[in-house]
Amino acid sequence: MKNNPNQTMRAVAIDEFGGIEKMKSRKLPVPKVANDEVLVRVDTAGVGVWDPFEREGGFAKEFGMQANFPLVLGSDGAGTVEEVGDEVQGLKRGDRVYGINFMNPKGGFYAEYTVVNANNAAMIPQALSTRDAGVLAVDGVTALNGLDKALKLKAGESILILGASGGVGHLAVQLAKRMKARVLAVASGQDGVEFVKRLGADKVIEGHRDDILKAAREFAPKGLDAALLTAGGKAAEQAIAALREGGRAAYPNGVEDVSQARNGVKVMSYNAEPNPKTFAKLNELIDGGPFEVHIARTFKLEEAAEAQRALESHYLGKLALVMS
Ligand SMILES: NC(=O)c1ccc[n+]([C@@H]2O[C@H](COP(=O)([O-])OP(=O)(O)OC[C@H]3O[C@@H](n4cnc5c(N)ncnc54)[C@H](OP(=O)(O)O)[C@@H]3O)[C@@H](O)[C@H]2O)c1
Repeated sequence: MKNNPNQTMRAVAIDEFGGIEKMKSRKLPVPKVANDEVLVRVDTAGVGVWDPFEREGGFAKEFGMQANFPLVLGSDGAGTVEEVGDEVQGLKRGDRVYGINFMNPKGGFYAEYTVVNANNAAMIPQALSTRDAGVLAVDGVTALNGLDKALKLKAGESILILGASGGVGHLAVQLAKRMKARVLAVASGQDGVEFVKRLGADKVIEGHRDDILKAAREFAPKGLDAALLTAGGKAAEQAIAALREGGRAAYPNGVEDVSQARNGVKVMSYNAEPNPKTFAKLNELIDGGPFEVHIARTFKLEEAAEAQRALESHYLGKLALVMS
């Protein structure tokens, strides 16, 4: 069934790059579906810590892309398939899906509807609500790519996860446990420590206060096999110092201030890079038992500016916009 070509939707968009004041609630046409896309009726949109960078034009500059204004913000979310492009296989109208819309000239998830390339969308794992899946796509793919593709984490290995109570980190802790690794989680705040203990990490410390190097040496006396760094600075430096000879560390691009210098260990950066195979693996791991995707706070679509301001505060997991 095709959507009405004159149909409009509520959205939060910008007419030019800039500060939070550029974000406006608008009525915009529902985007049209190409052959390889699905139209999604959005239930929940993730509010990523990188969304302000998108709003300021940082990604457009970095990737040398022209923006189509008004530009609807938001790079991930979840909802229900409303319409399917002619070449799309494996998704149908009515399916619950989550997905990534990064730098899509047709706009992102801060809207009642969005179109997503079918390769960047997947069915929501059975046990997750559509709401929770709204904050899963970018952080879930980033967590899995970090553990699996960048670090090539193996069963029985020890891994330190820095920023374990954050968006990528809390998912990475659970995925690493599913991959049968031993996890030393470095969380933020006492609430973060309690939260990550509940997620099944083998040992949890507080990363602003506790001695990371000491805790890591107790956890893995011969040195850690791996570290996933979702934050930089001194804590990341200590995590790298705690690696064994031949150990490896990975951080998603966007993490600032990661020191590269240490002989005998590999420190690499990487990107989320979604594709159907990665989504399938993510879903399989999530479906392997209870899994928590944590939304700290929800905002209405019209409160998107407030949600982006809240990115500056301390919270666990992720922030989200809900359409109703
Ligand atoms: N390149 C890509 O494809 C890609 C994709 C996704 C994410 N990223 C990047 O990856 C990074 C993480 O993303 P995210 O969504 O997970 O962000 P996030 O939710 O802000 O996670 C970072 C976490 O690290 C915590 N933290 C900072 N210093 C700490 C310390 N010393 N000890 C313990 N915890 C500490 C923060 O908590 P407090 O703020 O409370 O300290 C926060 O919870 C961001 O830089 C993002 O831009 C890149």
